[in-house]
Amino acid sequence: MAPNDEWWVTIAHAFSAHVRDERYVLARYEELAATTADPGTRFLLEVILEDERRHHALFERLGASATGTTAQASAVPGPPDPEPEHLAELLEQTRRFLEIERDDAAGLKSLARELKPGSQETMWRLLVEIMELDTEKHIRILEFLRHRLEHLGR
Ligand SMILES: [Fe+2]
Ligand SMILES: [Fe+2]
Repeated sequence: MAPNDEWWVTIAHAFSAHVRDERYVLARYEELAATTADPGTRFLLEVILEDERRHHALFERLGASATGTTAQASAVPGPPDPEPEHLAELLEQTRRFLEIERDDAAGLKSLARELKPGSQETMWRLLVEIMELDTEKHIRILEFLRHRLEHLGR
């Protein structure tokens, strides 16, 4: 199903609503992080803040690419579309990275298990679990890329 004009307008509105919401959430986190004296709490809030800043920047780019108001360079490009002569090499690299990330996921999982006994005395386990979530994200991105490259190579 090809998107029509109405769809573009709806999505552009949704993106700018998210930019507004994220800006609010970001400001609240920044406020709390700045006024919290406890280093452990502040550290956790800063881990979230890093993500929220990235979300905010990404939603701004999404908004810009849906409305065409900001410079093309800041918006989101179209899906991967490499030159045909680079396809095979890129696909091979993508598959290799997928393997690496899957090994990483397994390694992090067992490390998190080992850290279980100390999970009230340190934040190590939490941080390793967060990296597991990031690795899931990397796998998701690489699977998208692989699927796309496979489709182009057909
Ligand atoms: Fe967010
Ligand atoms: Fe990774």
